[in-house]
Amino acid sequence: MAVLRFPNENRTIEAEPEIRAELAVLGIDYERWSLNRVGTDASAEEVLSAYDVEIEEMKRRGGYVTADVIDVNAGTPNLEAMLAKFDKEHTHDEDEVRFILAGRGIFFLNIAGRVASVQVGPGDMLRVPRGTTHWFTLCEDRRIRAIRWFQDTSGWTPHYTGSGVDQGFQPLCFGPAYLGSRAATGIRV
Ligand SMILES: [Fe+2]
Repeated sequence: MAVLRFPNENRTIEAEPEIRAELAVLGIDYERWSLNRVGTDASAEEVLSAYDVEIEEMKRRGGYVTADVIDVNAGTPNLEAMLAKFDKEHTHDEDEVRFILAGRGIFFLNIAGRVASVQVGPGDMLRVPRGTTHWFTLCEDRRIRAIRWFQDTSGWTPHYTGSGVDQGFQPLCFGPAYLGSRAATGIRV
């Protein structure tokens, strides 16, 4: 279940309908999908097969041409370097669409002068339209498994804004304390 926050407004929203409505105003699609199609040990191929109907429907909705399964954990080689590509404010030339199967992460969205954070976990589907300024990182357990959709994989290159806005927000996940490098800087949460 997601947690939506507006850090500068001291607002935290945990009710699914309210999260969906608030994000819709920002142009972000949020849905809850069933997780019971596959077991937690299913292969990527089994996941893609089990969610074939949803994957094809999402392709129609967004013009996506392909989908895959990303699966990383704390033991993934070069994980921190991978995360460092996406934890600074950026945009993409295509939508960023994720259905979370396991693990947790936080999307920060900077839209029309408001920053929102969306902590996503198993069962959450989030669609961030192309051109949306955002950044992302994993929660402290450094685990995420998700279905991703692509219009063109080359479009997923991050275009950094260089605004530095991302430095002002601690990626604090609901639950165990975040242990990342920003935790000790005293910046606002
Ligand atoms: Fe991104």
